[in-house]
Amino acid sequence: MADKHIYQQTLSELSFTQPHIISSKFEDFRSDFLYYYWQHISSEAKWKEVRDHWLGRKSGVLSELADNWLKPAPPELKKVVGQELNALRAFVESKLEEKRNEVAASQEAAAAARDRIDLSLPGVERAIGTRHLIQQTFDELIDIFLSIGFSVVEGPEIETPYYNFEALNIPEHHPARDNMDTFYIEGARSPHLLRTHTSPMQIRSMEKQKPPVRIVVPGKVYRRDNPDATHGYMFHQIEGLAVDTDITFCDFKGTVEYFVRAFLGPKAKTRLRPSYFPFTEPSAEVDASCHVCGGSRCRICKFSGWIELFGAGMVNPAVYGFVNYDPEKLSGFAFGIGVDRFAMMKYGITELPLLFQNDVRFLKQFP
Ligand code: PHE
Repeated sequence: MADKHIYQQTLSELSFTQPHIISSKFEDFRSDFLYYYWQHISSEAKWKEVRDHWLGRKSGVLSELADNWLKPAPPELKKVVGQELNALRAFVESKLEEKRNEVAASQEAAAAARDRIDLSLPGVERAIGTRHLIQQTFDELIDIFLSIGFSVVEGPEIETPYYNFEALNIPEHHPARDNMDTFYIEGARSPHLLRTHTSPMQIRSMEKQKPPVRIVVPGKVYRRDNPDATHGYMFHQIEGLAVDTDITFCDFKGTVEYFVRAFLGPKAKTRLRPSYFPFTEPSAEVDASCHVCGGSRCRICKFSGWIELFGAGMVNPAVYGFVNYDPEKLSGFAFGIGVDRFAMMKYGITELPLLFQNDVRFLKQFP
């Protein structure tokens, strides 16, 4: 019986026969309640636990006392037990009520403290990003063309062979497809591929608008190049197209020279070398005098004095046939600039992959 609480036993089991013993036991209950329970209430959960322990209907201390002490009490003790029990209940109830208010108030205060903004703390800093070097180069190149009357359009990276090849005068078995026959989309209802150049936008633009046309088209292009220091499966181009009733090879050359000087500085010289693209005729590779040695030959220009810039040419009249333009009345020029090459050239970057590894230590150098 040692582990039974006294309130779980009857007065006769406990051999309590004197009223003053009973009163002193009730005094003990009060101090037990105060020092072992009430004092330690610090949360609502704890408050409920203490309330249930003392006032719980079934096995709370007070119910047990009523069942075990009061009900079976001998008549001479009934009165004192009844009085003491009522007094204890009143005491426990009023002390708990007092504590309930205290707990609620302190929880509110804690919540308020949690929510309070501490103005002395350092703020949350959001790092402000910068434009990627490729984007900076895009912007720089595009600004030059905007300043001479071109506007910017963009087009889809997933293209049909018609726009990527056929309408650009590259028929199915033409050898010019070799280095572009690359990423086809599997499971497409009709053949689609990742565009291999921005030139399809020449066709889409002319289909949509009547001449004159003066557009530049920035964007990503994809080829199955073997990755090395200067190649990846993706790079960036700016396509240019100007078509009107009176555009000559002189306009082409003048525009190209203006652009090269605007980008590389007023001393830059321009050279056109014969080239071949099915959609331009004649076609040219545009070279600039080396921006490092100025043409006196160095390691950068492989001791030639010249740097290869981009492919270009007069629009092949065959292309006008695909977009219902009159080749008798219209003429124009087109070019396709490799943006990544320009960025590498301008900033002396020798490894193309660095541009796309998103290593902030590298990118931060071009804020
Ligand atoms: N589309 C060509 C290429 O990617 C470049 C080019 C564009 C050449 C326009 C001439 C005219 O290689």
